[in-house]
Amino acid sequence: MNIKITTLSENTANYGFLAEWGLSILVDVEGLRILVDTGLSFSAVHNAQLMGIDLATIDRIILSHGHADHTGGLRDVLRLKGEVEVIAHPDIWADKYTRRGQETERKIGVPFLREELESLGARFNLVREPVHITKNVLTTGEIPMATDYEEVDSNLFVREGDELRSDPVADDLALIIDTEFGLVVVLGCAHLFRASEERLEKTIADLKEIGIQRLGVSHCTGFRASARLAQEFEDIFFMNNAGSVSPSTLTHIPFNGFFFLHAHHFYRLPAYLTGVGHLIKFLRISIALIITFIVGLSSYLRFFPDFYLEETYSCFHNIGVTHALCLFDLPYPLVKVFVNPEAKCRAALFIFDSGRSSPFLL
Ligand SMILES: [Fe+2]
Repeated sequence: MNIKITTLSENTANYGFLAEWGLSILVDVEGLRILVDTGLSFSAVHNAQLMGIDLATIDRIILSHGHADHTGGLRDVLRLKGEVEVIAHPDIWADKYTRRGQETERKIGVPFLREELESLGARFNLVREPVHITKNVLTTGEIPMATDYEEVDSNLFVREGDELRSDPVADDLALIIDTEFGLVVVLGCAHLFRASEERLEKTIADLKEIGIQRLGVSHCTGFRASARLAQEFEDIFFMNNAGSVSPSTLTHIPFNGFFFLHAHHFYRLPAYLTGVGHLIKFLRISIALIITFIVGLSSYLRFFPDFYLEETYSCFHNIGVTHALCLFDLPYPLVKVFVNPEAKCRAALFIFDSGRSSPFLL
């Protein structure tokens, strides 16, 4: 079976593509073109255009759940496509909110009226049960929580009358493709980004148990869980960001003269950091040292061997780095070192993506 999975929208992006907080994945299988989610705004349409994909040729839309970061691109997609079946759970139309602690709640449901989407061609097929698109391609329908460790994000709510009730996100569904190599599952909403340590470890144990062959993470997996999964699954793991095409998923920046020019400098990084550390101690600066990896640095660090990363890490530790900010551009090899359970400043690492301000973000 030929299957091609193209990520049109994701929190992070390959070179040249737009990133935004959201998810949209195009699946080409058995002559059908299925769009799973539509991102938060226009990035899915924009990135599809960059890749020469005509979204007027899609055959189905599946919405994994009713949050805006998965449905916000729907209107733009419908403007290109016109009439199309949209498969989802009826609860996508619940009045959904998020609220953290004492914050004011924020509306995060589908950001359009159903009538508007229908006038643009959406033909909603809202069901709780699985939908067979072909014999081998189907949606899961509502997913029961079958383990003792799964939990729904406690920051998610549904408004009923004047009350905000906890949202069970019953609308969460996934797409399954039954291939001769095993099942391919495209998930929309399997949030791990606020998962407890226990839940994360049990999830990893179960993923190992089922013998997963390839694991692409995106979006609400979050940085910490992604780094743990990268460490645990090594070559099986890949970062599925906007512009990724599976099965040839990983984009690769070819080695060239530019790389060697940079490598010359970056191999001196540990020595440089030690110097900075001495200076800081000399000046008795008591504020946290914040190191921001500039894009160029983090891009190239992935080519470095483990011993170099270990050395860089131990320099960070020795000079008392308390916060390491990473721009996202594939710092996973380095992150693997930082999230090592033995690492003493593992909690210090966080991702410094668009929209964040520092140092008030931990
Ligand atoms: Fe999401």
